[in-house]
Amino acid sequence: MKKVTKAIFPVAGLGTRFLPATKSIPKEIMTLVDRPLIQYAIDEARAAGIKEFIFVTSRGKGALEDYFDHSPVLEQELRKKGKDKLLEVLKTTNMDSGAIAYIRQHKALGLGHAVWCARRLLDPKEPFAVILPDDVIAAEKPCLQQMVEAYEELGATGSMVASMEVPADKVSAYGVLDVKDDMGSTVSVKGMVEKPAPGTEPSNLAVIGRYILDPAVMKNLNQMKSGAGGEIQLTDAIADEIGTERGVYGYRFAGQRFDCGSKAGFLQATISFGLSREDLRDELQEYLDELSAVRAAAQ
Ligand code: UTP
Repeated sequence: MKKVTKAIFPVAGLGTRFLPATKSIPKEIMTLVDRPLIQYAIDEARAAGIKEFIFVTSRGKGALEDYFDHSPVLEQELRKKGKDKLLEVLKTTNMDSGAIAYIRQHKALGLGHAVWCARRLLDPKEPFAVILPDDVIAAEKPCLQQMVEAYEELGATGSMVASMEVPADKVSAYGVLDVKDDMGSTVSVKGMVEKPAPGTEPSNLAVIGRYILDPAVMKNLNQMKSGAGGEIQLTDAIADEIGTERGVYGYRFAGQRFDCGSKAGFLQATISFGLSREDLRDELQEYLDELSAVRAAAQ
């Protein structure tokens, strides 16, 4: 069975929704509590068995590359001061030499184009994962791990996208699946459309930023057709696989997804991750209770 061991992290977007912060800070370095978004994505990939991490970056993303470097001076300082716990935390950010590769997307032409930029770093016969770090998923079993298991159950062939049900008035903001067979967590797909016009959505099952892709998707990206919004859409290259012997599947993951590419989603994630931390929970909850009491009194 073909194992999924490589993951692409497209991080070349401009992050305009977070301007002015993203003028100098890559969106993926913004922190949820005390860890940057990219760390959550890397931890999830590791849990799923990923061994090689490919970042598609762009100008101004230097902080992202620095983040994964070892920092001997800082480590030495912490060791000297006996701060063993912090040393352990720091170690989780260290990557094995050669496990990370960076490639540039010279123009933000869309997610499909970003993934295509990594084509020479992949094995043309092996499926690969794609993780969008701004979709953060809180789950007992990390989302990509759930998907890898489901993908192996299907025989490790074809392409699989993470999906979740979204309210009818929000679905047109997503890639949306047209379901052929519903097998529970996994569905087979007969159609897929990126940001459908409101009222034309084939279902309310939206595509979320985790993918396991057959290498044929990369061949489809070679055609470089621009799609919705004039961008080269990954959704279109995956949709081209529908009806082939490989096929396309959606996977309803167990967990809560936060859209950390939007300000409201980022704030919700901050509160939720804060409340899940033992060292912060009580203080934060007390503050939230106070806040709602003040709001209730003002109404
Ligand atoms: P977004 O749609 O969130 O775009 O991209 P963005 O540029 O990051 O953010 P806004 O909309 O301007 O605020 C989804 C993911 O695809 C990557 C982004 O880095 C993000 O991880 N992406 C998008 C690229 O790598 N290249 C692109 O050309 C477009």
